[in-house]
Amino acid sequence: MTDLHARPWWERGTIYQIYPRSFQDSDGDGVGDLAGIERRLDYLVDLGIDAIWISPIFPSPMADFGYDVADYCDIEPMFGDLAAFDRLLTAVHARGLKLLLDFVPNHTSDQHLWFRESRASRDNPKRDWYIWRDAKPDGGPPNNWISDFGGSAWEWDAATGQYYLHAFLKEQPDLNWRNPEVREAMANVLRFWLDRGVDGFRIDVLWHIVKDAAFPDNPLNPDWTPAINARDEVFQTYSTDQPEAHAISADMRALADSYGERVLIGEIFLPNEAHARWFGTPERPQVHLPFNFQLIETAWNVAKLRQVIADYEASIPAFGWPNWVIGSHDAPRIAARIGEAQARVATMLLLTLRGTPTLYQGDELGIGQVAIPHDRMRDPQYFRQPGVDVGRDRSRTPMPWDASANAGFSTGEPWLPLNDDWPTRNVAVQGADAGSMLTLTRDLLALRRAHDALSVGSITLVESEDDVLSYLRQHEEEQLLIVLNLSSSDHAYRVPDGYDVETVLASTKAPRAIDSRIAADEGLVLRLKRTA
Ligand code: GLC
Ligand code: MG
Repeated sequence: MTDLHARPWWERGTIYQIYPRSFQDSDGDGVGDLAGIERRLDYLVDLGIDAIWISPIFPSPMADFGYDVADYCDIEPMFGDLAAFDRLLTAVHARGLKLLLDFVPNHTSDQHLWFRESRASRDNPKRDWYIWRDAKPDGGPPNNWISDFGGSAWEWDAATGQYYLHAFLKEQPDLNWRNPEVREAMANVLRFWLDRGVDGFRIDVLWHIVKDAAFPDNPLNPDWTPAINARDEVFQTYSTDQPEAHAISADMRALADSYGERVLIGEIFLPNEAHARWFGTPERPQVHLPFNFQLIETAWNVAKLRQVIADYEASIPAFGWPNWVIGSHDAPRIAARIGEAQARVATMLLLTLRGTPTLYQGDELGIGQVAIPHDRMRDPQYFRQPGVDVGRDRSRTPMPWDASANAGFSTGEPWLPLNDDWPTRNVAVQGADAGSMLTLTRDLLALRRAHDALSVGSITLVESEDDVLSYLRQHEEEQLLIVLNLSSSDHAYRVPDGYDVETVLASTKAPRAIDSRIAADEGLVLRLKRTA
């Protein structure tokens, strides 16, 4: 109806995350690139997504594989150049898709010219662009803050006799967003890409960008043990989620809005109430979509998921819009975590919840555990915390396209190994198989497009038997019941009073007739009709 035109595209759309090093290589160096992405755009059109978000493609020494940016306004030569980017953007738009870039505002590379100047001397004009502090009287770091990758968040610079702050690697010094020159330089970065025509940004670790001006120690986490991520030894009370960061996020939004319909997605890990504050207010909005990672972090059981859905929905302000994520370049693969049968159910969950879904490359093939030998590991997080299960290479392996050499990803040796089952688990094989994860994903995306109830409809949780997660999606006259069996035995499910099942619109298993029971590991989308 009328609201078809009033809603921005992302309220009906699906975002697909491309990890550029691993999507498609075009020049045989074993690392994906922009020309490779361009070559595969028709695959994405066919899949049925609306937008691509590409992890960082800017010049980078690759200490953190692109999240260490050495120049915000250029393209890493390994990926191409600005002309290749413009070609890609034109090709994306020609297909009716949107392109989102990854904006990394919290830190630069230590090779960025700004940091090289900043560390050159204490009186360099760019000294205050980063966060420099004197040592404690005993020579130790200014406070107890811990890097997300383990160890102190402070690095001693002998040449100038001060410490600088790095929330991640020491090769990723944190910018000082309290400095107006930094804010202006970064606004110019956004303008540079918006002027080129990009449709928005995913903003890296947005809640980190401002720190408490007094740099107090962070409170210790009494539950921390060395077996878990070193980051969690303290609560990041004073190093993240500061009021000034919200003001900056509102400024970024105002800038984006001045370009028309552009979307900002903030990477933010916080409990619901604090998380929802990143929407801002109707008068002074912040990001459109504070990324919601709860499906990644929640145990795969009905009670927990119901709670997560209810609490998250309740936290969204009236003018806000929800979103859901089930995989990323940082998180373990969903199929590795819950198995392939349940990963199919998870895909149905992701694509039938209210809110913008972000699908991570390769999850549409159900790529699971990839055994990567130690000598092929590349992720700095893995090397910095041996023994703690935090390595991210396992979700960054190349896309398997077909059964040709290197799965059609590259003519050269891929930078990370492929999934071992690539000869059968690839796009070509799954594309031709009606029962594959790829076909299921494509069908569910088409279903979502065809039924407004699935994208913009209301959502109501429905009571059901244990192990069955069920909710109603409703828009205008249409009522769709989603039933997800999280267990390996079959169950009855409940149809809300006053309704009968009219049709089975989708099953994660083979096409089937209406039945009052749901099979083991099955997910269903059912259209309801009023009982006569
Ligand atoms: C984000 C990215 C992650 C990166 C970190 C530092 O969490 O998703 O890959 O290492 O920020 O930029
Ligand atoms: Mg290449």
